[in-house]
Order: sequence, then C-alpha cells, then structure tokens
Amino acid sequence: MQTKNNYRPVVHFTPPANWMNDPNGMVYANGRYHLFYQYYPAAPYWGPMHWGHAVTRDLLRWEHLPTALYPDELGCIFSGSCVLDKENLSGFGSLENPPMIAVYTSHNTTTHLEQQSIAYSLDYEHFEKYYGNPIIANEGQPDFRDPKVFWNPIKQCYSLVLAAGKNVEFYSSRNLKDWEKTGEFQAGIHGLGGICECPDCFPLQTEDGEKWVLIISMILPPEETGKENNAFDRMSHITQYYVGSFDGNTFIDTEKSDIPLLPDFGTDNYAAVTFQNLDEKVMIGWADNWDYAAQAPTAESGFRGKMTLAREMKLVKTEQGYRLSFSFKGTEALEAVSFPLTQGDNRLHSDSFGLKAAVNGTGKIVFRNSSGEFVEITVTEEEITVDRRHAGQSSFQQDYEKESYGLNRAPRQLRDSSEIEIIFDKCILEVLADNGLTPFTVSVFPLQPYEKIGVTGDIQAKLFYLC
Ligand code: FRU
Repeated sequence: MQTKNNYRPVVHFTPPANWMNDPNGMVYANGRYHLFYQYYPAAPYWGPMHWGHAVTRDLLRWEHLPTALYPDELGCIFSGSCVLDKENLSGFGSLENPPMIAVYTSHNTTTHLEQQSIAYSLDYEHFEKYYGNPIIANEGQPDFRDPKVFWNPIKQCYSLVLAAGKNVEFYSSRNLKDWEKTGEFQAGIHGLGGICECPDCFPLQTEDGEKWVLIISMILPPEETGKENNAFDRMSHITQYYVGSFDGNTFIDTEKSDIPLLPDFGTDNYAAVTFQNLDEKVMIGWADNWDYAAQAPTAESGFRGKMTLAREMKLVKTEQGYRLSFSFKGTEALEAVSFPLTQGDNRLHSDSFGLKAAVNGTGKIVFRNSSGEFVEITVTEEEITVDRRHAGQSSFQQDYEKESYGLNRAPRQLRDSSEIEIIFDKCILEVLADNGLTPFTVSVFPLQPYEKIGVTGDIQAKLFYLC
C-alpha cells in the first residue's frame, strides 16, 4: 500500500540518502560527537561499504560531512572504531594537533578476506589511509572483523576487541599501528552461540567497585532461531552482553547469568557500540533489523537505516544480578516544555514526541490514528509489552509481519513504582521501561501519523515534542 507519510525522523540520525547500517567510529572531540556509519551511498540497499560521517553538538541535530572512507585495493570498509590519539602515540599528528585514528575492517569483496586497517585525520573530516595496512593481517580465518579500540588501564596502552568467528579476540598496542594478540573470549560457552559481530568492551562504576561489560552482536545459526520464539532466539541477529572483569589481556565473565542478557528487548537495535573519549558510557545502535531492513518502506522517504538516540548506561544491582540500565542523553532540553496527560485520549500535535511517565502499578499507553492503526505499550505486574502488530504497514516483509516480531515482551525488573521514558519519531519507537532496565527499540510504519495518545491505569505521564 502506498503512503504519503514521511518517515524521515527529526532527531534520530538517518543517512542523507540511501543505505546505512552499523554505527562506526563514535568519538567525542573538540565539542563535537562524531558518528561514522556503514554506508552505501549509491542505492537504498547494502552494497560495497563506505564510512559515512556526521557530527552533532547536542546529540539531536546532526550535520552531514563528506564520506570519510572509500573502498580501496584491500576491500570495502567494514565496521570499526575511532580513537582520539591525544598523546600522539601513533606519530601521525602532534600533541597540539592530536590525530583521530579510524581502525576498521578491510573486507575483500571477491575473496571475503577480512583484515584490520587504519586511517588518520588531523582535521577530523578528511582521512589518510596508513601505507602499512593491514595492521592486523589475516591468513584466511572467516568472519574476522569490527575492531573496537579502548584504553587498557592495566597495561597503560590501547587494546582492541574484534569478532573472530564464534569468539572475540583481544589485541594491544603502544602506537596503534603494531598490535599483538593478548587473549580471547569464547562467546558460545557463556551464552548464545553464533558468529560474533561488533564487540565492545568498557568499564563502569558500580556500588561494588568497577566492573567491565562486554557487548557482542551475533548472527544466530538458523537451526537455533525461532525455536522457542522467546526474546533471545526469535530473530536471526541479536545483541547480548556479559558483566565481569578485564585483566589487561582478556575479559572474564564473572557475573554469570542463566539467561542471555539483552541490552534491548525490541526487534530493532543491532551492532550497538559506545563513544570513545567520553567519561560517561553512551551507546548508539543501528535501529533496524537485518531480517527486513532492506525492504523497509522508508525508501519512499529517501533513506534506509536509522540510529537509536544516544543512551547513557549505568550498571545497576538488581535482585537478578547486575544489569545495564539506560537513559536518553540529549533530550533534557526537549523535556523542559512538557504537558501533563489526562486519563483517556489526548490529541497529538506532531508525530515526533516523547513521554516521561511514573508507573505506580499497571497500565497502558496507546498511540492511534484514524486509519485504525495503533501501538500499545502495556505494563502488567509480570511483564512489559510493546505491541506493534497493528501499528501500520507490515506486509512488506514476512518476518516483520510475524507475531513474535510484532509482540515485543520482557519480564518486569522492578516490583515497585518505576519510570518509563518513551520517544516516538516518525517511524521509530524507543521505550526505556522499569527505570531504563528494560529498553525496547521498534520500527513502525503507520500509513498516516498517530493523532491520539491514550493513557489508562496507574500511569501519570507528561508529553513533550521533539520539534
Ligand atoms: C554487522 C555487520 C558487521 C560488518 C558490517 C558490514 O551488522 O555485518 O559485522 O562489519 O555489518 O556492513
């Protein structure tokens, strides 16, 4: 069905045109947050990957910059990270003008050989590739990609974690050019087993001192997918995390959990990673799903691929153990002008809005339009559900239409009163429930904007607009 609805979000990052997947190279430098991303500028589907580039000062308004990295003789440019080399360990710049270094995977399109390469920039917009690439060569191991650099406080050097088949591997370096392997973490024996992608590893303070978090996105084997249709196995790709420690060489999963820990219970948050060079840990994920992203009806609005809002993370002690909790970063200014909602239906004056609500029991929040489309967020004593089965267009792809993809659910993490934050921006819904312990990111494609918002039950909500 054709729609006249414009799906281009107002504050969520989308590419200027055509295809985008993973966030790459996120780094804060000189007052600007840099976001690079997997980009195919020639068509609204995946193709030879480039690194697109954008910056923002407030995490809401983005400025597009020229494409940062183009394919070369080593291959196209797969996912990776950036580091601001403040001590000029690499020698590519100076202490007065520290280089920004992109560490990425060169993916040979013919042989599929994946090796790690670097490029540097002194103006943080134009990049020069290093003549000594690849900096981590590969003899032929499949699925060897997505290096994420982080500071190693134990060895006082840089380390990186990369995906290596069913494991992730750790490397360290004193000059960001010569790397040696220090250890590995076997993802499969600690949780779901599959092909790892886009790992990230970072410390967070807790009431029991510092702990480390390892995040891994993963392609699940088809025979393991859709068996139970629970949050962990209903889709072909999922992101999970582990809580533990880092000994300078590798990650150790000390807080073992019987069930995989998920940073998001919705269908649309993959390849999420954190910013480098920020004290706080702030994450952005690709707010799409490999199962249907290439058919998303946003192409009618000139793009395919969108990012989540920036989310700041904390590691919180719960009855079940340590869990990540998330809050939106950058939305405070928007929340300053908010309107209390009454029980029952309230009129909406824009299809980009947010909601902050206190939940003191059970209740429901519904957005609807006059075509009969609606999204329903329900809080019961046992679980939280985000139901987008009747939200809008769905027949564009068979997985998107499935009941298990449409009805997103997660168990309650809190028994007492809690807060829920919701952002809806044209075609993307983000819900941070139970004080941010239970996030959901979900793509919805209403044929026309939602016009009403209904609140029922023990929920006191305030509404604000994103534009
Ligand atoms: C994850 C991923 C990465 C890879 C990139 C290619 O979504 O498959 O592993 O580097 O996308 O675009």
